[in-house]
Amino acid sequence: MSILKVARMGHPVLRQRGQPLEKADLKSPRIQKLIDDMLDTMSEYSGVGLAAPQVHEGLRLFVGLLHDEDPDERSGASVIVNPEIVPNTPARADGWEGCLSIPDIRGLVPRFTDITVRALDRDGRPIELRLKDFSARVAQHETDHLDGVLFFDRMTSFASLTYLEEYSRYHADEGD
Ligand code: NI
Repeated sequence: MSILKVARMGHPVLRQRGQPLEKADLKSPRIQKLIDDMLDTMSEYSGVGLAAPQVHEGLRLFVGLLHDEDPDERSGASVIVNPEIVPNTPARADGWEGCLSIPDIRGLVPRFTDITVRALDRDGRPIELRLKDFSARVAQHETDHLDGVLFFDRMTSFASLTYLEEYSRYHADEGD
């Protein structure tokens, strides 16, 4: 396993749409190693999610710390392939986001608070997750990366943009 280099904002790979993975692709050692390396890389940089385009792979794949509402499904990091997101209610809430590709910046982003994610797991099995609040936010942020969308694009105002140090000093207790 290895720690992968993370593409930063401005790298064209972050603006490209990722290609779907076939079940056969998921059987390849290259893709399984990529998934393991992405999990290691997310952990190394204390991220809550990491999408394949962020490690220079134009594929519809992300890893993230997602907590399904179904208590039987709770686990550590999830591997999500070819995700489709359906909001369960039209409600959105503003919450703070950061991105390993946009280091040391935080901003308030509106996201759906209750979603269903349909996807494949790392073995190509269909999965369906019901995600709320922070987990729903992570899944929407990471799925956006697969479409070349960054969190700045989803902000309705840039007034909340802050560096991490100032976030910690002035905003960390505001919650989301
Ligand atoms: Ni990101």
